[in-house]
Amino acid sequence: MSVKRREFLEAALAGVAGLVASRISGFAQTARAADAHVEVLINEAIGTINPNIYGHFVEHLGGVVYDGIWVGENSRIPNTGGIRTAIVDAMKRIKAPVIRYPGGCFADSYNWRDGIGDRAKRPRRTNFWVDEPDSKAPVNSPAKVEPNWFGTNEFMRFCQLTGAKPYMAANLRSLPAQDFYEWVEYCNAPAATTTLSQMRASGPVGSREPFNVEFWGVGNESWGCGGNFTPEEYAGEFRRFLAAVPGYGVPLKFLAAGPNAGDLNWTRGFFSKMREKGEWTFDRMYGWCLHHYAWNVAGGRTNDWRAGKGDAVKFDIEQYYELLRDADKMESLIEGHWTVMGEYDPRHRTKLVVDEWGSWHRAGTEIASTHMLGQQQTLRDALVASISLDTFHRHADKVVMANVAQLVNCLHSLFLTNEDKFALTPNYHVFEMFMPHMGAQAVRSIFSAPQAKYTRNGKPAEFWGLGGSASLNGKQLTLTVTNPNASEPRATEIAVRGARIESAQARVLTAPDVHAHNTFENPRAVEPSDGQVRIGAGGALVYRFAPASVTRLLVKLT
Ligand code: AHR
Repeated sequence: MSVKRREFLEAALAGVAGLVASRISGFAQTARAADAHVEVLINEAIGTINPNIYGHFVEHLGGVVYDGIWVGENSRIPNTGGIRTAIVDAMKRIKAPVIRYPGGCFADSYNWRDGIGDRAKRPRRTNFWVDEPDSKAPVNSPAKVEPNWFGTNEFMRFCQLTGAKPYMAANLRSLPAQDFYEWVEYCNAPAATTTLSQMRASGPVGSREPFNVEFWGVGNESWGCGGNFTPEEYAGEFRRFLAAVPGYGVPLKFLAAGPNAGDLNWTRGFFSKMREKGEWTFDRMYGWCLHHYAWNVAGGRTNDWRAGKGDAVKFDIEQYYELLRDADKMESLIEGHWTVMGEYDPRHRTKLVVDEWGSWHRAGTEIASTHMLGQQQTLRDALVASISLDTFHRHADKVVMANVAQLVNCLHSLFLTNEDKFALTPNYHVFEMFMPHMGAQAVRSIFSAPQAKYTRNGKPAEFWGLGGSASLNGKQLTLTVTNPNASEPRATEIAVRGARIESAQARVLTAPDVHAHNTFENPRAVEPSDGQVRIGAGGALVYRFAPASVTRLLVKLT
């Protein structure tokens, strides 16, 4: 709902006492009923929000590629050259900027040559995920035996259809550097100049024109599935792989496999080894890739990777807050790794990329047996998304890309599919609501609200009361706010320092139950609706944030 400037003036005249209070405290008399305050400081710029923070991730894992994106050209499911049309259309609506592919752990087992040329002749290979302990996927399904129907050309077609840029993850663990150079050549060499560029043009979805892939990850989780390296060993390998990559006039941006969540030793070991060779090495490195999942809902009882997880749908209130708490660690992770990076690369030529993030629950809610790591997504997961994206905005000077894991049928997905069925998850709606932040100038915001209280492992615990981020695009301010409190609304006054508010509109994602989620039978159980925002007597916005909600306020300034 929007409020016009005239209504604001009338309200202001009616509340002189409120204006006096406003001058003294910074907030208006109308705030008497408010129990929370937000201040947006539009003159305190943080940095431009790189649209690539809204990036995606597609791995050959379970139901992501097969059943998710690729349905095949002869399918009765609406498709464009074998690619599911519903996903393409939905990704266009959110202006998907970049997609990471083909893994994940899969990337370090993958030979890109298996996925090119005549589809009928492509080899069938054991998928990296074949031994995933919780999987009930049939032994001969594409989740376990990779048929390679979807490879580089098909992925590039997917990017072209959606308008997203490709971000390729190259195999460092099990292929020599030469294969990396040749994949770059296959993708980027000018038409008909080399054997590989000719191969690109021939075969299915062939392209005479080079793909001009800019983003190249070199290894994935090289501390674990990507080779069990020490950070020092990996730094040596990374430098070697980068030593002579053919350019073809494309401004290549290389990304290195960064830490597992809070592992500062990985960052320190890698950066110190790079620095030993020379500070210039950071000029070659666009991004340092942090991975952080929200998974541990055990309330401090265990840090075990399996025992610490909970069900995606059947969770109690402690597990609700614990998941948000785990997601909220992103802030300290960004700050911690950034500080260490700066000790070796003081000019911060290398930025942070969070190329895997999202929630990771216990297996059991996947909608098909082939969907390894597939899980339902509730309103709680939408709050994980809003908390994470807002954190990236608040660190727009540090984070240049982020890739939610993963696009469809896996972990923190935006889509659920099975054969001809298709649904948007609540996460999709957060991405859609937050779009005005893309490319805008992040500005500082201050939140003050009563803490949310809950019981953690039998003891009283708290989580912050309101949080979010703000950005400016010309005269339009976008403020996104999460109220994590599962039961209490927050009557809030929102002041904008450095400008006057002319009008405002609110859009909110919430549901009566934090367990609410979208299914094929009820695909609109969680979707956004318009909210009621007004301008108070002191010129500040007055808004009531619903319990367990994500809100976007679009504010027109003068
Ligand atoms: O996203 C699922 C997996 O999580 C990725 O393959 C891997 O990089 C991470 O451990």
